[in-house]
Amino acid sequence: MKALVLSGGSGTRLRPITHTAPKQLVPVANKPVLYYVLEDIAQAGVTEVGIVVGESAREIQEAVGDGSRFGLQVTYIRQEAPLGLAHAVLIAREFLGDDDFVMYLGDNFVVGGIADLVREFRTQRPDAQILLTRVPDPAAFGVAELGADGQVVSLEEKPQQPRSDLALVGVYLFSPAVHEAVRSIKPSWRGELEITHALQWLIDEHRDVRSTTIHGYWKDTGNVTDMLEVNRTALETVEARTHGVVDTDSEVIGRVRIEAGARIRGSRIVGPAVIGTGTLVSGSYIGPYTSIGDNCRVENGEIEFSIMLSDSRLEGVGRVHGSLIGRNVTVTPALHIPSTNRLILGDHSEVQIAS
Ligand code: TTP
Repeated sequence: MKALVLSGGSGTRLRPITHTAPKQLVPVANKPVLYYVLEDIAQAGVTEVGIVVGESAREIQEAVGDGSRFGLQVTYIRQEAPLGLAHAVLIAREFLGDDDFVMYLGDNFVVGGIADLVREFRTQRPDAQILLTRVPDPAAFGVAELGADGQVVSLEEKPQQPRSDLALVGVYLFSPAVHEAVRSIKPSWRGELEITHALQWLIDEHRDVRSTTIHGYWKDTGNVTDMLEVNRTALETVEARTHGVVDTDSEVIGRVRIEAGARIRGSRIVGPAVIGTGTLVSGSYIGPYTSIGDNCRVENGEIEFSIMLSDSRLEGVGRVHGSLIGRNVTVTPALHIPSTNRLILGDHSEVQIAS
């Protein structure tokens, strides 16, 4: 059994962060989403992994290398454009050979991993097995309709009138039967080879397509709201640990991980939270569900329920909430100009200012 991890795509919903870094490398609890995916695969006992990469191939390769750190052997597969999930399977044909495989979207986060699912697939060997979860807004997802016996009857991509509330989770298991399916389908109206169409092709050919409905936590980190939500969930499992230096004027409450080289001075940190290596927190408040990256400075500021990537600075500003702050970002007050906001923002930035 092999694994195919999809780390291409355009990441338009996470701009401007994705202008400079692929979304799969945005950290949650200070660890890239993609690392959780690779750890899940290793834990399921699969070692040969193909990673489909697009424009951000170099960054992904630098972050993952040959995969040995995860106990994996990684092969990179270049996709010239984000032409769809089924297109990724199509171009990975040589790597996949005639093996069964698990396809895992590199920006998805599944609590509890995929080991049980992979074991079930290996023993039963249907032609395909999909993961489903109940969602309140199925129109935003690929949606499955199940028959009375639990077999998958139909699949639709972002339907206007969903036939169920069962959304496709970004983990799929396939036998080599999928190769004929991805060769047989045509691009959709959005110009992509859709994996839902490949699955529907298998269903129409009376192949055995099964589903497992998961009740645990799953999220696609494709937009900022979901990214913050995944960060919140990942932080729930953080162990309290202080490798950095916390002075006696500071108060650290709850599960907070303070990495080596971090310094906390005259501040209050309420977990769950992580503070990265080399970061300085001084005269500040860090509230729950916050991940502060490496080499940041938070001085006389307040931040909660947010992700701050490495090498950024927040100084002298009131409460920042629900925010995703990129690398090398500076947030400071507009000096000497009362009640004025001064903004230098990259393309596709989004700012909400307290009025
Ligand atoms: P999506 O989030 O569906 O697509 P996207 O990355 O283009 O994002 P956006 O809608 O914000 O523009 O992709 C799911 C995952 O699959 C993600 O990790 C990117 C990856 N992917 C590929 O590797 N190749 C592709 O052709 C597509 C469409 C996605």
